[in-house]
Amino acid sequence: MILKKIQDALNTQLNAEFYSSYFYLSMSTYFESKDLQGFARWFRVQANEEYEHAMKIFDYIYQIGGEVKLMQIDGPKTDWESFLEVFQDTFEHEQKITKSINELLDLAIIEKDHATVNFLQWFVSEQVEEEATSQQNVKKMEMIGDSKSGLFMLDRELGSRVNQ
Ligand code: FEO
Repeated sequence: MILKKIQDALNTQLNAEFYSSYFYLSMSTYFESKDLQGFARWFRVQANEEYEHAMKIFDYIYQIGGEVKLMQIDGPKTDWESFLEVFQDTFEHEQKITKSINELLDLAIIEKDHATVNFLQWFVSEQVEEEATSQQNVKKMEMIGDSKSGLFMLDRELGSRVNQ
């Protein structure tokens, strides 16, 4: 039987993953409006990944006999001062998600919920990757600076991303 505390925390994380999907989709629409289709593509794939993260939690809650509670999803930011700022926000956001996954894991450890501890391992590894990728993107954008050709090349590179 799932503990209510764990169920609530999983539902909160479920909401955070749905928000992440919405957040990245907003970045995708921003880049569409700036005619940077490669960047738009990258963020759209990222939004799909976040949806998959949410659905992993969704399925897990049912698997352990819990109840999914869908909550309101906050509206994401829709405009940015610069392209660099979008990538900086991405890195900052992933750091917040890592923190919330770690807190959820801490709770599962305290409550001796071994199944949830095991389930969350995938998310712990995924967050290492998510943070590394978003940080690399920030560094690339910083290197590019005001270079239009650099921007064009990165747009091409990021545009090759495919759904996993
Ligand atoms: Fe699902 Fe990017 O964290």
